[in-house]
Amino acid sequence: MRNPLQEKNILIREATTADLDAIVAIEQDCYAQPWTEQMLYQELLNPVATFLCLAICGRICAYLCYWLVAGEVQILNLATATAWQRRGFAGRLLSAAFKRCAASATTAWLEVRAGNQPAINLYQGCGFASAGVRRGYYRDGEDAVIMVKELSVQEKNLEK
Ligand SMILES: CC(C)(COP(=O)(O)OP(=O)(O)OC[C@H]1O[C@@H](n2cnc3c(N)ncnc32)[C@H](O)[C@@H]1OP(=O)(O)O)[C@@H](O)C(=O)NCCC(=O)NCCS
Repeated sequence: MRNPLQEKNILIREATTADLDAIVAIEQDCYAQPWTEQMLYQELLNPVATFLCLAICGRICAYLCYWLVAGEVQILNLATATAWQRRGFAGRLLSAAFKRCAASATTAWLEVRAGNQPAINLYQGCGFASAGVRRGYYRDGEDAVIMVKELSVQEKNLEK
């Protein structure tokens, strides 16, 4: 393959249960405590959840899961396979989610481990700001930083 990163080879689309194996593989690649296959399957079937995936030449390299409920977007999960990180893929998935939701949502929320500086950098770069801390939120006792972003009409113009 000459240059898989040419724009024509990159596609962001909704994922389905047919993509479960690829998503499980990324999840296991990226997290010490990954969501299980069952959890991912249930979210793929959840009517309030949307999974977006970014595929290069048809191969899924990153994905994002969010809920859209009562005018708010909740980012539940976002991961880029380690081999494909630092190429802007997570940022593109966030932009694609904002674009899809901007007409029906005003705010996006998420929780991130306080020690996950790469993700915090990513979210700050995408316009999220810290809105508080949930002490000991994770099972291992780590704090969660709550982050929020106001969605605007400009979001509709982001990402293809
Ligand atoms: C966090 C994560 C999703 C970022 O994915 P990615 O596709 O590499 O992110 P992007 O290439 O879009 O990065 C955008 C910006 O985020 C920040 N960032 C991403 N990875 C970073 C790192 N390892 N260290 C510091 N900053 C980082 C940078 O500001 C980066 O911009 P730059 O490359 O111009 O400096 C990825 O590292 C990952 O999957 N981590 C494991 C799972 C996880 O922690 N998910 C988030 C749960 S809340």
